[in-house]
Order: sequence, then C-alpha cells, then structure tokens
Amino acid sequence: MAAAVPPGVAPVRARFLTSKEEFHAFLRAGSEPGSQVGDEGEEEKKEEDEEKEEEQEEQVSSCQSEPPAKRVRAEDLGQDEENQEGAGAEEKELPERKRARGQNKSRPCMKPNHYEQSRLCPSVTQGRPGKCFYGPRCRFLHDVGEYLAGKPSDLGQRCVLFDTFGRCPYGVTCRFARAHLGDGHQNIVNAALAQQWEGKLLVRNNLSKDLQHQLRKRKFVFQKAEEYLRGLKPRGGDGKGGKATGEQEVSNCAAPQEGLGDGDGHECPVLQEQGEDPKAEALQSPSSRGDGVAPSVPTVGPLTDEDVTKLRPCEKKKLEIQGKLYLAPLTTCGNLPFRRICKRFGADVTCGEMAVCTNLLQGQSSEWALLKRHHTEDIFGVQLEGAFPDTMTKCAELLNRTIEVDFVDINVGCPIDLVYKKGGGCALMTRSNKFEQIVRGMNSVLDVPLTVKIRTGVQEKINVAHKIIPKIREWGASMVTLHGRSREQRYTRSADWEYIAECAKIASPMPLFGNGDILSYEDANRAMETGVSGIMIARGALIKPWLFTEIKEQRHWDISSGERFDILKDFTNYGLEHWGSDTQGVEKTRKFLLEWLSFLCRYIPVGLLEHLPQRINERPPYYLGRDYLETLMASQNVDDWIRISELLLGPVPPSFTFLPKHKANSYR
Ligand SMILES: Cc1cc2nc3c(=O)[nH]c(=O)nc-3n(C[C@H](O)[C@H](O)[C@H](O)COP(=O)(O)O)c2cc1C
Ligand SMILES: [Zn+2]
Ligand SMILES: [Zn+2]
Repeated sequence: MAAAVPPGVAPVRARFLTSKEEFHAFLRAGSEPGSQVGDEGEEEKKEEDEEKEEEQEEQVSSCQSEPPAKRVRAEDLGQDEENQEGAGAEEKELPERKRARGQNKSRPCMKPNHYEQSRLCPSVTQGRPGKCFYGPRCRFLHDVGEYLAGKPSDLGQRCVLFDTFGRCPYGVTCRFARAHLGDGHQNIVNAALAQQWEGKLLVRNNLSKDLQHQLRKRKFVFQKAEEYLRGLKPRGGDGKGGKATGEQEVSNCAAPQEGLGDGDGHECPVLQEQGEDPKAEALQSPSSRGDGVAPSVPTVGPLTDEDVTKLRPCEKKKLEIQGKLYLAPLTTCGNLPFRRICKRFGADVTCGEMAVCTNLLQGQSSEWALLKRHHTEDIFGVQLEGAFPDTMTKCAELLNRTIEVDFVDINVGCPIDLVYKKGGGCALMTRSNKFEQIVRGMNSVLDVPLTVKIRTGVQEKINVAHKIIPKIREWGASMVTLHGRSREQRYTRSADWEYIAECAKIASPMPLFGNGDILSYEDANRAMETGVSGIMIARGALIKPWLFTEIKEQRHWDISSGERFDILKDFTNYGLEHWGSDTQGVEKTRKFLLEWLSFLCRYIPVGLLEHLPQRINERPPYYLGRDYLETLMASQNVDDWIRISELLLGPVPPSFTFLPKHKANSYR
C-alpha cells in the first residue's frame, strides 16, 4: 500500500497531516485569550517557538536517549536535586554536578528552591516553632504572617494531600494551602480521614536518619561482605588469573534450575516477609530494618543471619516472573509516580532507577530515594551500578539488611562514559573476572535473587552476550535481561531479536528477558515467540503507559486526549504526594512531568494511523489531532509541554526554563 508519508515516518492518514507552520499556528490560535488553553498569543511567539524548536533539535541531536549520568559523579560531589525528603527537609547547598555525554549540555541549572525567595523554617511548618534546628543562624522565616505575605498565590482550590489523607504535611507552605488553612493560618486536619491512614505504610525503603548516620560515620558492619572479600584477597586482590575463592559459598546451590520461575511454590520459610502486604506505622516511615547499630549477628525473624547463611542460596526465595511484563529501570523517568501509573495499566514487575553503589554506601539521601517502593509495586527490584566487588558486595549486604525488595539487578548495560570508563555498566561485559567476583559476591550476601541486565556487547558488530550468559548462570544469577543492542549502537537501528532468541536458548534453564523496541501488543507477541521468558519495556511505556493493558488485552486502544490528560493529572497528584505540594515539590513534579512529556509527544493516536501499529522507530509527521488537546499533546516543542504542565500545576515561576535531559526523539 502506498503510504502518503516518506519511509521512516509513521503512516498518519493524509487528512490529518499538516505542515510545521500550520501545526504551530493552530496551537497558537488555540492558546489565545478566551480559548481553551491559556494565555499569550503574541505575534513574535511564532518565531520564538520555531527558533526554540530548532535549537532543541540541534541540542538533542548529538545524543541518544540512554539515561544521563545524572547521579553518577565524582565522590566529592554532593546531593542532587532529586533529593526528595518530606516536609521541612533540611536545606542543602548543592555543588554543581558533573555532566556526562548524552545529556543536554546547555540545560540550565535551575533548582526548584531557587523559585522561592524566602522560605518558612521547617520548625514552623512542622508545628514546632521555637524549636528551630538551626538556632540563631537560621536563615528561614519564623513568622507565618510575614511568610504568607511574600508567598506566591495558590495553584488550585483543592489540595490532593488533604483530600486523600485528611492532612497536608506541607501546611502553610502548600501551594494549595487555602484548602486546609484555618482563620489563624492553622493547618486543619480531617481527623476521621487521617485516622484511616494511620499505621499504613505507603512507601517503603526510606533511609532512616540513624542508618544514614551509621553510613556517614562508617559504622555499618559488613559482616558477610567482609568475609567474602577476605576470600578474594589471597589471589592477589585484583582477581587476575584466578577464580573468586568466595565461590564455595554459592556453588551448585545457586544453579539456575534452583533459581526461579517454575512456580512450584517452594519457598524459603525465613523470607516470607518479602512478599507481604505493607503494614506499618506511618505514611513514610523509615525502614524498620535499617535502624539501630548493626548487631554482631543480625536476626531475621526467628532465625539468626548465621542460620540464614547456612540455608542460602539453595533456599533463596524464587523470583517467579515467567511471562510477566517488566517495566524497565529508567533513570529520571522511571520515578515512583510514573511506576504507579504503569502498575495501574498492568505492568507486573517494576524496578527502581539505577542507583550508584558508592553513593548508597555513603548514605546519600538522593541515591536512597531511588530505592523507594510504592505499596502497589508488588514485584519490585532495585538496580545497582558499580565496578568493583567490594563496593557492590557491601552494597548488596547493606540493602539486604535494610530494605524490602524482591530482587536486586546489576546494570551491566549502562553505556554512558562516566560509568563505562570506571569499568562499570557495559564495561563489566569485558572484565569477566571482576564481573564474576561481583555476581558471586552479591549473590552470597543476598537473600533475594540477583538478576543482571546486559547488552549484546560493547562493539557494534561483535556480539558477546551469548558467551557471557552461561557464565552469569554459573555464577549464580537468577535471571538475565538482554537489551538487543550494543553499547556503540545506542538506539540506532532496531534491537536484534534474532540474537535475543539465540541467547534465550543458551541461557536456559535460567530465564532470560528480552528487551528492545516494544510499542504494541504485536511487538510483544513477536518478542514472546522468540522463546524468551518475558519481556522488558522501556520507551514503549514512556510513550504510552497503557501499552501494558494493550498487551494483556491484545488490542489497540484508541485512547482519547481527555483520557490521556487524566493520566497526566494522576501523575501530578502522585508527584505532589511523592515530592511534596510546597513550591519545591510542585516544581519537582513539573520537572519530571516535562521529562516524561518529551516521550509522550511521540505517541500517535490509533484512530489517526493509516495502518497499525505505530512502530517505535518511525518518526511522527506533523499532524492535527481530532481535538485541540490531541494536537497539543503531539507537539515536540518544549513550550507546549510547559503549557501542558501549566494546565496541571499552574503557571510556571518567573524565568522558568526547561530542556529535556535526553533526546527523546531518536528515530534514526
Ligand atoms: C530515559 C531512559 C532511561 C533509562 N535508564 C536506564 C537505567 O537506569 N538502567 C538501565 O538498565 N537501563 C536504562 N535505560 C535503558 C532501558 O532500560 C532499555 O534497556 C532500553 O531503552 C531499550 O528498551 P526499549 O527499546 O523498550 O526502550 C533507559 C532508557 C531510557 C530511554
Ligand atoms: Zn529556623
Ligand atoms: Zn496541601
């Protein structure tokens, strides 16, 4: 069939097609006063828009959409903006982060707290005036009246936190505070509603102050890791020419057939707590297992860790994810609010964003924030990045004792320079001694299954995954995920599913998940036919999170722009719940919404396509949607994304700028 569009461009029906100029003119017309969306409609805007768009295209054209090295930085760099603590979190001075290739180099460094001239002291927000933590040196305001006089106006009539939980912990600093402030500025509580939430733990894996202190003071005892690492030393420490002596601990027992996926219900009695429903004290309480100085023999349930060591790894809890839909770990975009959305649409397995081992070991709040788990994430893992057996094994032991996860994944697919040059990520595929020591070490200290995410190899034409997979199985990993591209390839050309099929055979009986380019249920079916145990979905979920529903229901969902807008509304509500409803939280929510919108705009509504399905490597042409919102959502222009954010989160602060972190539009 003759398509009206050139090759490489998605087949949008001719009657919806338009030109770039008309597309922008249409959106501008709709944004004029009195129209559906908004505000300014000046003449210069057009040129400005187009200039910006071109600028944007240029800036992003050099990098593919692999994750930025956002949190990967030199040891001495501090916490980044992703630090997400509750109301009244202490103020931090943040040194500028190192930037890695693959990021938009010209991203303005605009931290949400720059938007607030004068902030209220946490002691006042938390209702403990006079107990200021900072004492006379405190540079925050202590007078609520003075604070309110300078506070920007509310962004909406209703506060989602107050409406949901009966209490808004952000009090007067909430940007929807009118909804819950009394005449004397007191924070009103809906006691009946608040009581319903009492004792419920909605988000787990928080870093307690106590554990953070232990880590910062290096008081945490890595008993098992030390033991394993001592075993490595006689061989010269660098692992050259020798097998890890720690292998004794894990050999045979961790063989793949013991690993997972056969559904026979054989479980380790000691570890049943892993899968339990959340129940605990507070909305966001510190991890129950992470506090207190580590006892010499920590206990898990009725047994000591020594007992557990004896049981492990034969008795390791299984990871039963055969045939399940796995939402990929996604730096920046795969945040907890986004994962909640995907869970609702049918994602089975979720994973935290890649966390850097050394940062976790230092107790950095921003890194620990990546481990947080929403109670709806019933099969949840965290992903770690590192290059050395000591930090990786220690980190595994640390997490094993302090957080609740169903598996731990090692990122051996990360292509970014900063990670690669240190020997982590993809580079581990070429450092098999270190790789072995890492897998064996981590596996020996973990009670939960260890999984590994890899690529086809480093160089474009030299596949090595098939050689490494049997080793990974032998070393004791429970599952491998293979992204069907090499490091060099990044996102160019399609993922190699034939090779994935080959590797799935080689991996057996260890399960192998395939990853790459899935954007429709047909793609998913084809992928499953290659013999993989399951599929992992990354950009497909960012472009249309309802993909999971489509796959499960084997249909194309012609979702309306209104329904899509509701998804965004839910995301912003989850964001305000997660990052906060004060200015900082609102702007953080906006930032992550904008990052996501840079992918969402690639979705082409089903009803507009000449033939189905949309393919991930086809570029959307300029088209007019079936209503204004559908057209607005198709815009690749950052100003239009900002406009969408304003519909949800109110006007952006003065001098607001945003550039997406990665090139979302890597079609080539
Ligand atoms: C925005 C973004 C962030 C990513 N972050 C990670 C990450 O933290 N860890 C990881 O292993 N892979 C990461 N990836 C790679 C994906 O997990 C996945 O392997 C890759 O995108 C191929 O799958 P897809 O074709 O379904 O997108 C990221 C990809 C994108 C687009
Ligand atoms: Zn103070
Ligand atoms: Zn509020």
